[in-house]
Amino acid sequence: METQIESLRIEALSALAGASDAASLKEVRVNFLGKTGSISLLSEGMRHLSKEDRPLIGKLLNELRTAVTAALNEKEGALAAASDAAAFAFIDATLPGTKPEAGSLHPLTLLVDRAVQIFRRLGFAIADGPDIETEWHCFDALNTPADHPARNEQDTFYLPDGHLLRTHTSSIQIRTMVQQPPPIRIIAPGAAYRRDEVDATHLAQFTQMEGLYVAPKVSLADLKGTIEFFFHELFGPGTEIRFRPHFFPFTEPSYEIDIRTEALGGKWMELAGCGMVDPAVFAEVNKARGDDAYDPEKISGFAFGFGLDRLAMNLTGISDIRMLTQNDLRFLSRFNSL
Ligand code: DAH
Repeated sequence: METQIESLRIEALSALAGASDAASLKEVRVNFLGKTGSISLLSEGMRHLSKEDRPLIGKLLNELRTAVTAALNEKEGALAAASDAAAFAFIDATLPGTKPEAGSLHPLTLLVDRAVQIFRRLGFAIADGPDIETEWHCFDALNTPADHPARNEQDTFYLPDGHLLRTHTSSIQIRTMVQQPPPIRIIAPGAAYRRDEVDATHLAQFTQMEGLYVAPKVSLADLKGTIEFFFHELFGPGTEIRFRPHFFPFTEPSYEIDIRTEALGGKWMELAGCGMVDPAVFAEVNKARGDDAYDPEKISGFAFGFGLDRLAMNLTGISDIRMLTQNDLRFLSRFNSL
């Protein structure tokens, strides 16, 4: 049996040497190591051996199996490496690669991010609300009665079920106050909609950022200080800011905010509305909450709303507001920061 083992070894190794691909290797594996392969068959012959011969033959058979398995594995590795090398032979690693295009954020997103960062340093948190609003959140609760021109069908997008696309982010003031008691200090960037004819200075969808601070003893001085801090951080300490008396139904007194800075062309620009929250708004919120959390005798607040599109236009130097929505990469890719 020893000679049989030896000749089987030679036979297996020469079969291996002749195998040149994965299929023929598999055949060798089956023929020699498989359940009915030659090595297994020879092992069965052990039964007829005497007790004395068995250990030696057993050992030789084991060695044969190990040696053939190792040689097979080695050959398999070598064949795989060769086929990898053949595949890579077609790749010219010295050719210049395709440069991945780095994306950039939209100028409005960059502006919102910067504004949010500044207000966060003052302790403002971000609040959110739906674009599709109820008339109550958008108008009634904001002290804007049914006969107010802002509610004209020509000015607003109404849905068949009576909902509307919010005409300002001020509705988020109401949503936040109904949900949580004071103190509140939030900003809310988001889309707003108006039924405007789209042209170089008007879009039917634009971007606003609302702000609201309600707590005991909040004053007009807090409002002015906050607004000044914001614009000085955004455009530098030389930025001039003026408050022009105005009217909004939901604030009393109300102002429009203009700023002037060389960064924006050195002309006065109207950027925002603001004011002290009208007690009538707190009254509506209390009614909806069913409590007296917003008692105007105990708390007060200021609110503001910025239009961000005009600001983005000035910062990017475009004269047509539609460029902000047209997704023209030649325009968008020029801005990695504002
Ligand atoms: N919602 C107003 C608008 O869209 C802007 C505004 C004015 C917001 C005064 C305010 C505010 O929060 O206090 O024209």
